[in-house]
Amino acid sequence: MAIFTNGVVLLLWALLSAVCVWGRPATFLQDFRVTWAQSHITQLDRGRAIQLRLDQSSGCGFASKLKYMFGRVSMKIKLVPGDSAGTVTAFYLNSDTNYVRDELDFEFLGNRTGQPYTVQTNIYAHGKGDREQRVNLWFDPAADFHTYSILWNHHHIVFYVDEVPIRVYKNNEGRGVAYPKMQAMGVYSTLWEADDWATRGGLEKIDWSKAPFYAYYKDIDIEGCAVPGAAECASNPRNWWEGGAYQALNALEARRYRWVRMNHVIYDYCKDRSRYPVPPPECLAGI
Ligand SMILES: *[C@@H]1O[C@H](CO)[C@@H](O)[C@H](O)[C@H]1NC(C)=O
Repeated sequence: MAIFTNGVVLLLWALLSAVCVWGRPATFLQDFRVTWAQSHITQLDRGRAIQLRLDQSSGCGFASKLKYMFGRVSMKIKLVPGDSAGTVTAFYLNSDTNYVRDELDFEFLGNRTGQPYTVQTNIYAHGKGDREQRVNLWFDPAADFHTYSILWNHHHIVFYVDEVPIRVYKNNEGRGVAYPKMQAMGVYSTLWEADDWATRGGLEKIDWSKAPFYAYYKDIDIEGCAVPGAAECASNPRNWWEGGAYQALNALEARRYRWVRMNHVIYDYCKDRSRYPVPPPECLAGI
């Protein structure tokens, strides 16, 4: 099944990329710019991988030069090893528009040596966020590279860790829930210090004697409609990420998603009654 799907994807990709879809694996300099602290970002493997550094003087960050409408962004990340408490490594899409911001966040919250990394996801639609969920990872994300991806189409938004969906945000516009679909988003990454909240709610502070802290990124793959670019691209139903196989989780993905929900979710805003006595409408709608 996976091979078949990949085959179809590759074929479609080859056909469509000739028309309007931007889809080649990115090299850093071609497709990204440094947004914060050039001195803390080092290119490796001739620009195909990069190292981000956090020390007491600064964190750092980079962003895509272009924005994209719908598609899938994936990258391999190797997180800060050992004592990473108080550090946050992030990968997110952001429309960069005040007040009506759309944003899809992956935030990796460090921890003390031997304690599990937490992945926090959040979704802003039309300026409204406060939709945090947290998952403890079932492997050590600092021991090796793992693939983190965000699929975004007209039907839903799915956050994947390797092949496993950890979060689904359905298009529930029919129920009056805002859905990001009017604004293109750029791809951003940062590594920074957030020990006022990140680890055990801010109880665990950064141990600067362990600095510098390093995170690594490679195989950044953005497939989507580039903006500026062909205006009709984003509404083209033949874009592969809009296809039938991507409009809902397949049986295997649904099974894996249930496994994550049952075994690894440690916080879900939908279930936080002290914060939301009445659950937000997207929570009632199910997945
Ligand atoms: C860090 O480890 C503690 C103890 O195992 C755990 O409760 C927490 O969820 C982990 N993650 C963060 C970000 O604090």
